[in-house]
Amino acid sequence: MTRIIPLIVTLCITPLLASGAKIQSGPMLGYANMAEALIIVQTDSPAKVHVEYWPQDVRSDVRKTDPIMTEKRTAFIAKCVADQVEAGKNYGYAIYIDGKKQSVKFRKGYKSGSIPMVFHTPKNWRYRETGHQPFDFTVGFGSCAYINEEGGYDRLNGSPYGGEYHIFESIYEVDPDVFVWLGDNVYYREPDWSSRTGMIHRWTHDRSIPELRPMLANIPNYGIWDDHDYGPNDIGRDYWNKDLATEIFSLFHGNPTAGLPETPGIFTYFAWGDVHFYLTDNRTYRTVGDLNPDPFGYERQMLGRKQIDWLVELMKWNRNQSISSYPSTFHVVAIGNQVISPNGKDSLREFPEEWNYLFDRLAEEEIHNVIFITGDIHRAEVNKLVYKDTHFWDITSSPMCAGPSSISEDPNPHRLNVFNTDSNQINKRNFATLTFEGPLIDRRAVLKYYDSDGNLLNQDPDKAPGEVTDASTIQSRNLNLSKKLYE
Ligand SMILES: [Fe+2]
Repeated sequence: MTRIIPLIVTLCITPLLASGAKIQSGPMLGYANMAEALIIVQTDSPAKVHVEYWPQDVRSDVRKTDPIMTEKRTAFIAKCVADQVEAGKNYGYAIYIDGKKQSVKFRKGYKSGSIPMVFHTPKNWRYRETGHQPFDFTVGFGSCAYINEEGGYDRLNGSPYGGEYHIFESIYEVDPDVFVWLGDNVYYREPDWSSRTGMIHRWTHDRSIPELRPMLANIPNYGIWDDHDYGPNDIGRDYWNKDLATEIFSLFHGNPTAGLPETPGIFTYFAWGDVHFYLTDNRTYRTVGDLNPDPFGYERQMLGRKQIDWLVELMKWNRNQSISSYPSTFHVVAIGNQVISPNGKDSLREFPEEWNYLFDRLAEEEIHNVIFITGDIHRAEVNKLVYKDTHFWDITSSPMCAGPSSISEDPNPHRLNVFNTDSNQINKRNFATLTFEGPLIDRRAVLKYYDSDGNLLNQDPDKAPGEVTDASTIQSRNLNLSKKLYE
């Protein structure tokens, strides 16, 4: 009898535990470093989620993440940390919901079958036998991902604003090592920005399109915001709901950190190989209004003094490490708005006190090899500035799947001839990659732009297929690397 009772209890409870929960969106890779990789899974109802992973070449060597219970308040999102990884390795992985292995499929009409799911960690290359030679890698980036919602709150006059979602499958095929979302990663509609329910609805809807699955599952994703994934159009520091916006943005992204204890926001930092990535927050501290100077006497700002000081001082620290013993080359700064272009009310140029302060400090501190990557303007262009003998680039990629804008007719002496066109601009849906390649003393970044079908947009007409225009290569300069690195 004593043996029968537990059996009856087990039989009664088992059906209650079988939830039938499924994957709602993802899996999506977040940050990856030499000790951890983040895997984000959203379920459609409460469930217990864990990830199993293994070195790609040793299928039997399975490790497991801690299980996480998903709940409604956090959009049924599980952030699973793979913490038994080594640097520079590929890991196959699988998602388990309530103990059941999930299969994640390609979109019908694109490819058949399950998506092969692999994550990777960056290599450890410093102080190796190779003599401090960095590895080549590619970062992808893009901005402005408007996804239409049938039966939702989209504008019903005119054609849909979003389209060509297969651009995300093209990103998967180009296969950058890392991807940075440069803002307007979703577009909040009016019912979205005033409530947790609305914000979660927007992210859940947009993250669930099948075109996103392969890139989210195979490329580490980092992100910053612009106005539309922060709150209402063009809003800044006065947004009444910015605490909630910050929480929800961080919930749906896999950045390593968000802001600092004394300076809230979404700005953060990561390194990949020899390159530093600074992800900035152009909304939390931003003053709004088109009038310059501000009629109320405010000093106009986009990033805020504290964030700029953080940015410049971290760059300086990284640069000094490089001089002493810890070599590095480029500083890539992600910002939702353009920085060098003199056009457009949203460019950092429209905040002159802040712009001068930032560039004066960068020049004074001799921070070389700074590349801004920016979004927002719904067309693509590259701007270059030489300021006090220091060279700066601003690479703009926009939009991924929102509607393109028209070509700018405004004169702009900074625009480079990357596309080999009259306007030096592209106004079709696009994304871009930067490949960091070559030995440390001759390190360069090669820029490629692609359209939604994966066609190269900055092909040099006189060179072999896949070779880009001369203006697309950025050579590192003034690295100030310690001589002993080469001894
Ligand atoms: Fe946008």
